[in-house]
Amino acid sequence: LLADRWGRDLVILALGGGVVTDLAGFVAATYLRGVPWVALPTTLLGMVDAAIGGKTGVNTPAGKNLVGAFHRPLAVVADLRTLTTLPDEVLRAGLAEMVKHAALADRGLLDALAGSAPAFASRDLAIIEPLVARAAAIKAAVVARDEHEAGLRQVLNFGHTVGHALEAASGLALPHGQAVAIGMVVEARAACRAGRFPPGDLARLVDVLERLGLPTRAPGPLRLEALRSAFAVDKKNRGGEVRFSIPRALGDVGDGADGHAGSLDLDEVLRALGDPA
Ligand SMILES: NC(=O)c1ccc[n+]([C@@H]2O[C@H](COP(=O)([O-])OP(=O)(O)OC[C@H]3O[C@@H](n4cnc5c(N)ncnc54)[C@H](O)[C@@H]3O)[C@@H](O)[C@H]2O)c1
Repeated sequence: LLADRWGRDLVILALGGGVVTDLAGFVAATYLRGVPWVALPTTLLGMVDAAIGGKTGVNTPAGKNLVGAFHRPLAVVADLRTLTTLPDEVLRAGLAEMVKHAALADRGLLDALAGSAPAFASRDLAIIEPLVARAAAIKAAVVARDEHEAGLRQVLNFGHTVGHALEAASGLALPHGQAVAIGMVVEARAACRAGRFPPGDLARLVDVLERLGLPTRAPGPLRLEALRSAFAVDKKNRGGEVRFSIPRALGDVGDGADGHAGSLDLDEVLRALGDPA
């Protein structure tokens, strides 16, 4: 852009998955102190998550999500036909985020997702389009109430505190979507034991994830020390506490004031991770 001397009268079009929309959005946020951009997500995760909400950024060797900017796109335009070429493994990462959005705000969407594995496998767009639109709308609604992540937006981290720790402890061998799926179950289980999440909802969450081909238990033997150090660098740490964002029940994050993000006992979380059931 600099070499070709583009001025402020440009619009950057970001066509691709979350990596592309994060990077192109960050370029748009910083080029000439900010130029407009449009997100054109081509992955399921991009459509329901990464392209929505105006968070842009690049990863660095020091960690994920440390360099970036809030810079809203002019529009997010998703053509679901692009999903027909998306590998199943990449699609599943998006399904994990859809389950998360449903778990936060819409039990009906969770029920619909439970029965939609064949439709996603065959890319039956007539069935999946309204589900994708609903999941995207949930994220947009949360962001609209808390654009700069002062409070409510933290609920979108459900499953991600444990998920990021598992990803890091596996040396990034564990795919993100799988890590988030396991993370949601582990965080919900730990919250359940603390009396802050209904046991029946935990069973339902596990059931829906399994129907969608997502894992619900940590793979292989856990390296607890690697996990502890991964939690220690979690950016949501506040005064040495690891913060977790957990809905009060499936489809219910409360009024957003509190009760959705809090601390759980780390040993309890590690026990929930090691649990086979
Ligand atoms: N900004 C946010 O709020 C936010 C939220 C969630 C995730 N993210 C970021 O999003 C990134 C993950 O995004 P992703 O899951 O879309 O992965 P990705 O962008 O890495 O894409 C996954 C793979 O799919 C390929 N691909 C993309 N579209 C395709 C298509 N239609 N057909 C075939 N192949 C296609 C890509 O080339 C890539 O190889 C991470 O870097 C994560 O940090 C950002």
